[in-house]
Parts: sequence; structure tokens; C-alpha cells
Amino acid sequence: MKLIKLLLISLLLISSTTIAQNTNKSDEVMKNILERKSVRTYANKKVEKEDIETLLRAAMAAPSAVNAQPWVFIAIDDRQILDNLASQLPNAKMLSQAQAAIIVCGNMEKALQGEGREYWVQDCSAATQNILLAAESMGLGAVWTGVYPKKERVNIIQTEMLLPSHIVPLCVIPIGWQTGKEKPKQKYTEENIRWNKWEDK
Ligand SMILES: Cc1cc2nc3c(=O)[nH]c(=O)nc-3n(C[C@H](O)[C@H](O)[C@H](O)COP(=O)(O)O)c2cc1C
Repeated sequence: MKLIKLLLISLLLISSTTIAQNTNKSDEVMKNILERKSVRTYANKKVEKEDIETLLRAAMAAPSAVNAQPWVFIAIDDRQILDNLASQLPNAKMLSQAQAAIIVCGNMEKALQGEGREYWVQDCSAATQNILLAAESMGLGAVWTGVYPKKERVNIIQTEMLLPSHIVPLCVIPIGWQTGKEKPKQKYTEENIRWNKWEDK
């Protein structure tokens, strides 16, 4: 009898710890999502290769249509390349302060055929968001700077980075350590939500 009681108590303890751990984990994930913000100013501190590799691991964990993974990531930690891109892309001038960058590209040789081809944009966008969230969780700051579908920007990146024509850049993500200047914006609003059918507010 004593043994059964002990067993029951231990089972109860184990399950309540697991619930607490799960709650803490989901709290942390939610906190990270809500804390993410575009970061355009960076501390003068090196971003290590391993940190970039962690971001790339997060990127490739993203979902993609038919699991095609039609992406390729160009990691940059070369000062000259960062400065050159900063001077050519007025929307990504912060590259001149960033310690690194990742160019998220679609690989048209891996993109789906026919009507599904444009899914590459959504696949690469999911990968981009994973990078931004992973950066936030590490104390790094990052910002999505748009390239595709702006032809001029696509051409600049293809030329400067010597990309073959089947590699199409979606965005450039400048990366550096956060200074604390940027804060997350409050964007939640009931106005953007409909429950069930359109009229059923
Ligand atoms: C498709 C896309 C393109 C963007 N392009 C740029 C850009 O070229 N330059 C820039 O500074 N920020 C760019 N942003 C970042 C947005 O300005 C930013 O996400 C928005 O203001 C909301 O702020 P938050 O990211 O801090 O929540 C882009 C974001 C997205 C999703």
C-alpha cells in the first residue's frame, strides 16, 4: 500500500513538473515573438561565425511547400562587401554598421513547377522570419530589408554577389548585436480579426 502511495506521489510530481516546464517553454517562445523588432543600429562587437551558423540552422528549419526547400543563404562577414552593398542599397544603409548579413535567396532550380512556382517567396519568407526570431532570442539585432520583387534591387544583388540567374534574392538581413535602442511595437488590434464568417465579428 505504502509503495503504491509513493508511486502515485512520484507520478504526480513528475507530471506537474512536465506541465510547468511546457508552460515555461511556451511563455519563452511567446515572449521572444513579442520582443522581436527590426534592429537598425548595432554595437561595435563582432558576430561570430557560429552565431551566423545558428541563424542558418533556424532558417532551414522553416516550412516550405512540398518540403521543396527552394532556398540558398549567402552569409556575409566581409566588411568590404557589407559596405559595398550599403552604398548601393538606399533601403539597407544600416549594412555599413552591421557586423554581418544574410541574403535569403530563392533557388529556381528547386522551386516547384507551374502554378506553385511562386511558393518560393513564401518559403523564403518563412526562413527569413525564423532568422529574425532566432536573432532576437540570441540578443542579436536584425532587420528584413526587401529586395524581390523590386527589379532594380534584384539586379544590384545579382551583379554584386555574382549570382547565377536561377538564384533570386528575396531580402538582405543586416545583423549585429543589439544596442537596446529599438523597442518592439504594439501591433495587436481586434480590428484585424474576424471570427468564423466575415460578418460574424
Ligand atoms: C517585406 C518586407 C520588406 C521590408 N523592407 C525593409 C527595408 O527595405 N528597409 C528597412 O529598414 N526595413 C524594412 N522592413 C522592415 C519593416 O519596416 C518593419 O518590419 C516594420 O516597420 C515593422 O516593424 P518591426 O519589424 O519592428 O515590428 C521590411 C519588412 C518586410 C516584411
